Amino acid sequence: MSIQRTLSIIKPDGVAKNLVGEILGRFEKNGLRIAGTRMQWLSQQEAEGFYAVHSERPFFGELVEYMTSGPVVISVLEGEDAISRNRELMGATNPAEAAPGTIRADFADSIGVNTVHGSDAEETAAVEVAYFFRSTELCARG
Ligand code: CMP
Repeated sequence: MSIQRTLSIIKPDGVAKNLVGEILGRFEKNGLRIAGTRMQWLSQQEAEGFYAVHSERPFFGELVEYMTSGPVVISVLEGEDAISRNRELMGATNPAEAAPGTIRADFADSIGVNTVHGSDAEETAAVEVAYFFRSTELCARG
């Protein structure tokens, strides 16, 4: 067990459904602290850069179009095993496969419109946190 940081994005459908407080509340109730957060409407360039690893996938255009369709809430979550803890709270990428009580099982519409993003490993978490936040914008809460 170690203190980690991970990047969370509440996607446009989560913001549009007024779930920002509900989702951040689930993180806080489950041992994660918010080290930094902001609402932002991503440009096409920002969304393409963030998801560059998926640029060859057939769903890339759809993903970028969706992620730029409205504002998102981008947060850095901190805590014991924050990466896996966040992924447990989110549930599987496809809401049809997400465990009951997870964010995606409760709120997501489809594999594309799936309410939240969370970093999947330590290396990607470090890259994704740095993509959106300078270190001076984050407050260590441990
Ligand atoms: P996310 O965790 O943000 O990481 C990449 C995203 O691509 C993923 O959530 C899904 O929203 C999206 N995605 C993955 N697979 C598919 C798919 N088969 N069709 C559409 N979108 C997908």
